[in-house]
Amino acid sequence: MNNVNNVNNVNNVNNVNNQPTLASIQKAQARLNGVVHRTPLMSSQSLSELAGTDLQFKAENLQVTGSFKIRGAFNKVADVADAGAQGVITASSGNHGQAVAWAARYFGLKAHIIVPTTAPAIKIRSAEAFGATVETCGTTSRERLDRARELADKWNYVFIPPYDDAAIMSGQGTIGLEILEDWPKVDTVLVPIGGGGLISGISTAIKESRPDVRVIGVEPQGAAKAFQSRRQGQRVELEHTESIADGLITLSLGHLTYPVVERNVDEVVTVTDDEIRRAFTLLFTRLKLVVEPSGAVTAGFLLNRSHTAVIGQHTVALLSGGNVDPSVVPGLFISA
Ligand SMILES: Cc1ncc(COP(=O)(O)O)c(C=O)c1O
Repeated sequence: MNNVNNVNNVNNVNNVNNQPTLASIQKAQARLNGVVHRTPLMSSQSLSELAGTDLQFKAENLQVTGSFKIRGAFNKVADVADAGAQGVITASSGNHGQAVAWAARYFGLKAHIIVPTTAPAIKIRSAEAFGATVETCGTTSRERLDRARELADKWNYVFIPPYDDAAIMSGQGTIGLEILEDWPKVDTVLVPIGGGGLISGISTAIKESRPDVRVIGVEPQGAAKAFQSRRQGQRVELEHTESIADGLITLSLGHLTYPVVERNVDEVVTVTDDEIRRAFTLLFTRLKLVVEPSGAVTAGFLLNRSHTAVIGQHTVALLSGGNVDPSVVPGLFISA
């Protein structure tokens, strides 16, 4: 138990309100330097013309482990390694699980990942390939979280949350710093929203250094938790979510991410699954990029709708991941 307490103390010292700050994001940037890729901004004239804006894509689909998740996971696992933990545990079978496994191996810690009994074999294999042990448990996230907490106590491992944590948000925020450094004339940045950790970090980096730059959050129409929260003026928990963007079907924003999103994000918009498919197809054919549905929602918005706030401006769309199961790829192509 001591290590877990130490770890919590470390976080409390760094982030008094359990919120990311420009300083905590800069600290994460120094840590990540030379460990993960500084992903490129990529453009296509025809896609800029289609969107009516000078458009750059931030290609986190090319990141270590195939998604941005390594940034937050690495920053958090670095904290717990400093505090002397033996191992880490998490309950995500997706991009976060792979990132935690990768970061744990980097720091020489054990990693244990709890996945649902329905998890595809390919996801289990990739976490195992990074040296994690994988356990299947139940079908609901509640069952997996209970099991993860039970084992964390029993083994003295530290639970690594997917988004509702200041160190996780700070790691993700390093994307915001890179965008501002690499393209200072940017006017608007579009970011996918799942539990809200990614956009909390990025929007903090942007608003604390360039408040004139707009941040737009994008989520699937079938999982419009941030959109509904904004409309109702409170953190909404949806009863059911459904979309091909499997990383964004969270039922609600987190307790910690919700206030950050409310404070920093200028606008939240939604896209349909067919708009995501069209973006997947255009990114594949024009830019030769493989982007998973969750990572393609920003392009799904810009390439299908006209938005007055970005017309004639300089816009960055974050492509947040590229881990797509080869068996689902044929179903993602539509005539664009
Ligand atoms: C590819 C991808 N993009 C975006 C997100 C959303 O991130 P967050 O939950 O921090 O909002 C996820 C979450 O798993 C993801 O896997």
